[in-house]
Amino acid sequence: MKRVTNWFVKTINSTLGQKMIMSLTGLFLISFLVIHLTGNLMLFKDDGGASFNAYAHFMSTSSFIKLAEIFLVLGFGMHIYTAWRLTRYNKQVRPQAYAYSRPEVNSPWTARYMGFVGSIMLIFLLIHLYHFWFKYKFQIEVPATGDYKDLYLLVQTTFVKEWWISVLYIVSMVFFGLHLVHGFESSLQTLGIQHKKYTPMLKKVGLLFAIIVPMGFAVMPLYFIGVYWW
Ligand code: HEM
Repeated sequence: MKRVTNWFVKTINSTLGQKMIMSLTGLFLISFLVIHLTGNLMLFKDDGGASFNAYAHFMSTSSFIKLAEIFLVLGFGMHIYTAWRLTRYNKQVRPQAYAYSRPEVNSPWTARYMGFVGSIMLIFLLIHLYHFWFKYKFQIEVPATGDYKDLYLLVQTTFVKEWWISVLYIVSMVFFGLHLVHGFESSLQTLGIQHKKYTPMLKKVGLLFAIIVPMGFAVMPLYFIGVYWW
């Protein structure tokens, strides 16, 4: 048993092990995003937010979702912490790497700026959680209209009244797309998925996903601004 534990600890602390953690947590977070985007599509329903508020109420009260939230926090935590460890390690072992390895020739820029783009995503996430999750949970600026707390109104006023927030969301979604493109490709590599026929196809699916999902999110602030002005 001790041998297995030692092997496990050694593996998850190796560079490959950490890359595996990045890939697996990344893929897990992607599945959350699909659910998040799908649920948020209810914002587009023309019923004054009734469906969206009922959905948000369900999400915040269901025991299953509360359990899933623990995994979500762990997933985000591990993804961010491992990214930080890998970046620090890469800097330590290759202090002058950029002097001779010519990364501008050897790796795509989405890969070279992954740390920068990831940091922007982290800032976005913190701001985002404050705007919606925190205010909803602690009932700040969230009136109760009808049966549930009016999260729809909070989303609407956030995007319409503070235009810079909408700009921030839209710009962040461009970075998010870049983060996904590279994340998806390097996951395939780390997990050893290399098939003559299927890998190029999977890469195309990844690219499509990296365009559609951030676009779906970016359309939300645009929609509220559009409805308000026209
Ligand atoms: C315009 C786009 C978006 C809108 C309108 C939106 C809306 C919301 C709302 C209303 C909540 C609080 C209620 C809830 O928990 O469901 C929330 C929570 C959350 N959002 Fe978003 N979201 C957007 C984009 C994103 C993106 C791109 C990410 C990830 C990169 C993200 C990650 C999260 C997380 C982690 C939570 C907390 C979930 C939980 O604890 O259940 N959201 N979002």
